[in-house]
Amino acid sequence: MITCGTLVLQPVQPFHSTDSGLACDGVSVAAVAEAEGTPVYVYSACALRTAYRAIDEAFASYPHVIHYALKANSTLAIARLLRELGSRADANSGGEIAVALRAGFTPDQIVFTGVGKTPDEIARAIAIGVATINAESAGELDRIAALAAAQGREARVALRVNPDIDAGSHPHISTGLRSNKFGVPLEDARAIYCERRGLTGLRFTGVHVHIGSQITTIEPLKRAADALVSLALALKSDGFALEHLDIGGGLGIPYESRPMIGPADYAAAVIPALERSGLPVVLEPGRAIAAPAGALVARIVDVKRYVDGRLFAVLDAGMTELMRPALYGSFHRIVPVAPRSGVEQPWDVVGPICESSDVFAIQRMLPPLDVGDLVAILDTGAYGAVMGSNYNRRLLPPEVLVDQGRWTTIRRRQTLDDVLALET
Ligand code: LLP
Repeated sequence: MITCGTLVLQPVQPFHSTDSGLACDGVSVAAVAEAEGTPVYVYSACALRTAYRAIDEAFASYPHVIHYALKANSTLAIARLLRELGSRADANSGGEIAVALRAGFTPDQIVFTGVGKTPDEIARAIAIGVATINAESAGELDRIAALAAAQGREARVALRVNPDIDAGSHPHISTGLRSNKFGVPLEDARAIYCERRGLTGLRFTGVHVHIGSQITTIEPLKRAADALVSLALALKSDGFALEHLDIGGGLGIPYESRPMIGPADYAAAVIPALERSGLPVVLEPGRAIAAPAGALVARIVDVKRYVDGRLFAVLDAGMTELMRPALYGSFHRIVPVAPRSGVEQPWDVVGPICESSDVFAIQRMLPPLDVGDLVAILDTGAYGAVMGSNYNRRLLPPEVLVDQGRWTTIRRRQTLDDVLALET
């Protein structure tokens, strides 16, 4: 961990330049690209472990369990690696629950969250006995109750509250405002619990909040925890035997290498509130664990030099492999894989898709680049591969995990036959 005062500069830096080019924990990125082809995702097992442990250690003084948010990256090998570290899982769909089970998580290690769960998803979650279903509405609680009663079971549930707190993140990934579709208004929650007290099929085990992702200041996280604790205390006084508080995920990472809050600041800000509740806390981090561990490695397939001086580097990766820049205008560091010297110039680094939003960086200062060069787009271990698509009939890229000086392919490149197998 590189620190700057109490602020974290970069949680983990698995990708580093050497005289022979970019390496991931000592493994040549160019060698991986040569063997696997491009585009390819490369992940560091060491970085995943370090980031997980940083959160675990930050909360060491308070009873906690980490349910890694599979939505950030649920490739089986990565889910397994986190399970081996002691993580549990946060699943957002029936598909993610199934992946969690295949990765070896037991049902009682899985929390099931998600707006718009289908009856089939709910019934299956009840049947296998997940740790908690985080319900999104009063109506969903009633549907869970009915489905559980029909199975003669009791579903362990927490209601997700919306505290009307601005996470200060990109609007597309802020979820805690009243205008967002997530959860129930905080002020309605107590009545919703009380009206359903003793309902056959339901057992209220906790309360849940998640106000957004890539949160880079402490205040909204602290306010959300405070609000959740106040609700939990009110419910306790109403006689609910709550077992936990779930404060969701959301901790951001320093994509732009500027010092910002890290796990220790987060823990220090929320633990005093949690202590008031006397309840263990569930954490659902995704990005803070997976993002810094991954890079998308791509090759430059064309270079355009316009007379007005504008420079474009066209990659063989685009928004189909990494959607974040097109969707949120998000920033990712881009570094040449081979050492490059020469005067830096402003480059537009773009993808090959026929969409003008298929752009990774505009006017980014980079050394001279040429067709055939490899570049690495950093901090793409979370919400990268998982958000890939087959648009333009492009094939999902392979994923590689570097561990202790060796690398293995943890997902092979998709083939056109894989894609067409679904079609008549
Ligand atoms: N828990 C819940 C209920 C969530 O909805 C999320 C993320 C998490 C936990 C994990 O949050 P994290 O610790 O990763 O911030 N595609 C976007 C991010 C969407 C996040 C959705 N929910 C992106 O690329 O930035």
